[in-house]
Amino acid sequence: MSLQSVTVVLPTFQEFASLPSLIDALLEVRRGELQELQLIIVDDNSNDGTEQLVEEINLDWIRLIVRKEDRGLSSAVIRGLQEATSEYCVVMDADGSHPASAIAAMVQAIHDGADFAVGSRYINGGTTEDGWGVLRWLNSKIATIMARPFTKVLDPMSGFLAFKRSTFAKATDLNPVGYKIGLELIVKCRCINVKEVPIHFSTRQLGESKLTLSVQIEYLQHVVRLLRFTHPKFVSFFTFATVGLSGAVVYLFALQLLTPLFTSTWQGIAASVWVAMTWNFFWDRKYAFWYARKNIVAQYIGFIAVCSVGAAANFYITNSLAESNAIIYSGFVGVVIGSAIGIVFNYLVSRLLVFKK
Ligand code: GDD
Ligand code: MN
Repeated sequence: MSLQSVTVVLPTFQEFASLPSLIDALLEVRRGELQELQLIIVDDNSNDGTEQLVEEINLDWIRLIVRKEDRGLSSAVIRGLQEATSEYCVVMDADGSHPASAIAAMVQAIHDGADFAVGSRYINGGTTEDGWGVLRWLNSKIATIMARPFTKVLDPMSGFLAFKRSTFAKATDLNPVGYKIGLELIVKCRCINVKEVPIHFSTRQLGESKLTLSVQIEYLQHVVRLLRFTHPKFVSFFTFATVGLSGAVVYLFALQLLTPLFTSTWQGIAASVWVAMTWNFFWDRKYAFWYARKNIVAQYIGFIAVCSVGAAANFYITNSLAESNAIIYSGFVGVVIGSAIGIVFNYLVSRLLVFKK
């Protein structure tokens, strides 16, 4: 097959111990189907002998990039991909988890028309080495389920990837934070036809995993960012509604705390309406309209104006009921009706006028 033009991008951080056997495995691949395979190692200044090792073996198909400023798996992968010049690109781990023997099949899958190939543990024929604790297994499962809105791939967490360099070049809005560069690329390069090639995923023999708690929190943020990318209107409205709900709770608390401080009840209600609107403004500006954070004063005035219709209804109802009912009950009825009147109108006008892109 004419699959000669392949670059393997290998992110490394303190993988000195694992590198020799990986390079051996790649030599084997070069002796077989992919004789012109190139390797780009992107090392984040491990200072563990990696540089000397690459220098000593002195092979013209291996290139080492040592980054001193940045750190991070995904950004290292992207850096390597930017340096590649071949038609096909492969990304894999250095710790021996990913079998180099699967590279040819993955590249073949792209050659045969797939947009993207992943080395998969969960497709028929794929396996995971025993010894994965329940916790790591559960973690991987939950993370996989959270990726469902973006791809039907059974192993979207995989870091063993193949695609054309031209596919990578199509990526828009790449955000190289976190570990899940495969998921990021599938979404941002708009890959539809993803082929899973079964692999045996081995447990690393040497060195330590870099998967920490902060990596998992980053994953949650990553999922939110991807949702914003693929379903921006849904995320925006859903967030707006959630903020609205929290604002209703704030309103009830404010009524309870503020009305006793004023001489007349209506003043306390008005102050509470204002507190709740201001609360909503800050969270909506931050999370519902994350993409349009400009002149805060103008946006605040605009937002208050837009919300005033529902707020006025809320104020009127709360105030009328408060004459003969408990303030908290009156406020509850007022805010429910006010929100029902306002939510769609407030959202649409806020989005179209106040928080323009
Ligand atoms: N350059 C660079 N910088 N490389 C890094 C960094 C970094 O900050 N952090 C990790 N790496 C490299 C490691 O040296 C290794 O080659 C690869 O990225 C994966 O790191 P591991 O620490 O072995 O990760 P893992 O075993 O927890 O995660 C693997 O499995 C996940 C699925 O369960 C990786 O394949 C992930 O990509 C995959 O999502
Ligand atoms: Mn690993």
